[in-house]
Amino acid sequence: MPADSPVVVVANRLPVDQVTDPDGTTRWQRSPGGLVTALEPFVAGRGGAWVGWSGSAGEAPEPFESGGMHLMPVPLSEEEVDGYYEGMSNASLWPLYHDVVEKPEYHRRWWDIYVQVNKRFAARAAEVAAQDAIVWVHDYQLQLVPALLRQLRPDLTIGFFLHIPFPPYELFTQLPWRQAVIEGLLGADLVGFQRPAAAANFVQLARRLHDLNTRGNVIEYEKRTVAAKAFPISIDVASFDRLASSEEVIARAKEIRTELGSPDKMVLGVDRLDYTKGIGVRLNAFQELLEDGVVSAPETVLVQVATPSRERVEHYVHMRETIEQQVGHINGVYGSIAGPAVHYFNQSMPREELAALYRAADVMLVTPYRDGMNLVAKEYVAARGDLGGALVLSEFAGAAAELKQAYLVNPHDIAGVKAQLVRALRQEPADGAKRMRAMRRYLAKNDLEHWASSFFDALRAQAEGRAGTSA
Ligand code: ADP
Ligand code: F6P
Repeated sequence: MPADSPVVVVANRLPVDQVTDPDGTTRWQRSPGGLVTALEPFVAGRGGAWVGWSGSAGEAPEPFESGGMHLMPVPLSEEEVDGYYEGMSNASLWPLYHDVVEKPEYHRRWWDIYVQVNKRFAARAAEVAAQDAIVWVHDYQLQLVPALLRQLRPDLTIGFFLHIPFPPYELFTQLPWRQAVIEGLLGADLVGFQRPAAAANFVQLARRLHDLNTRGNVIEYEKRTVAAKAFPISIDVASFDRLASSEEVIARAKEIRTELGSPDKMVLGVDRLDYTKGIGVRLNAFQELLEDGVVSAPETVLVQVATPSRERVEHYVHMRETIEQQVGHINGVYGSIAGPAVHYFNQSMPREELAALYRAADVMLVTPYRDGMNLVAKEYVAARGDLGGALVLSEFAGAAAELKQAYLVNPHDIAGVKAQLVRALRQEPADGAKRMRAMRRYLAKNDLEHWASSFFDALRAQAEGRAGTSA
């Protein structure tokens, strides 16, 4: 592949995953998660290249074109999937960066493999980037890539964006390889975070761990400067709004209510099946409201869609068992011949179906213990062009700083979650419409294009500063 891409995205996953069906045939399907949702429309619109893993172990497929993007697969062996992806990324860094909601494990073997895989991603990006190209590296799986890439290609402008929270000094310094991670990120010209507090944590770590001079959000490092700033990520609001307002989706939303047995109220949860998402919190709250007799089934039902995720990582295996047992218990006690109280789907669903579910739901429950942003909350608001529905949102999701008219909850306070859920279920339509209108107005201005162009403008400004200093 010639080195001719002016814009290169580097992320752990490609926007499509290679899956093998039971009959042995392989096909591509959309990858899970918020990163792909956010970046896909942006890269496609610019004819850029995307360097990432195909989602299965073994040899990488040849580079190919898809949806207006040049996709450059990076191979990972079984051992690398185990050490780099399931181990270091998702059993060490993920829980550490999410307030140690589960205990992180640290293993030297995982770290060595993480370094090896980061080197491979950097080499692939260096191969495909044109002279003076912009390379945008994403997320906690690839924190060493900025510095590795700068060594290989000093001509490049390098941006990094972290999609998940970034912990304070007191937590981050648990990491045995804390200095190497900060050094890796300092290879970028601009390091972007979801929240200002995360950017401040990074600047503080650079100052305290590496004894670097800092001025506000700017770090002086190796005769150049690195900026750290918040860029809250968003979604393609207009296109989601259009999808959810289409005749087909509106008709499907009605059909869903009928298929659920025409309940008076439908409560909805949509997440990757992840322990940070607080799925147990909403099951507990709903169960207690049923026990208290405040709501009853099947007049009020909870629909929980939970995409399978990281299924070989131990904490995920346990949480799935716990959630499924609890759903079984609630339905055993509160379900009836007329139907269950909780409709649980451990499946990925097409975007049209998700849009119809959002449109059908009276209350959307988003209750993570910690979340970098949470795009589901933004999708729900974008889907409610009818100004119906209510959003119950955890204070610990990045989205809470923006969607201030949501019913905010502390997921550790079950009584508080119950109270807010009841308020949301009983809201006056006029009050609900007022809240939804305000959140939609905010989102319309702060959409995906705004996020990506703010990041790019800031990255270019940093790069021009660098060129100015070295001239
Ligand atoms: P994360 O990045 O941690 O997965 P986000 O809420 O930011 O969390 O993004 C999740 C993305 O995945 C959203 O775009 C959402 O629509 C999508 N998603 C979540 N659950 C499902 C599902 N069951 N089927 C299809 N897409 C899903
Ligand atoms: O932003 C969080 C994130 O880890 C992304 O990097 C990723 O695309 C998404 O969640 C889904 O996770 P995974 O790629 O591990 O399935």
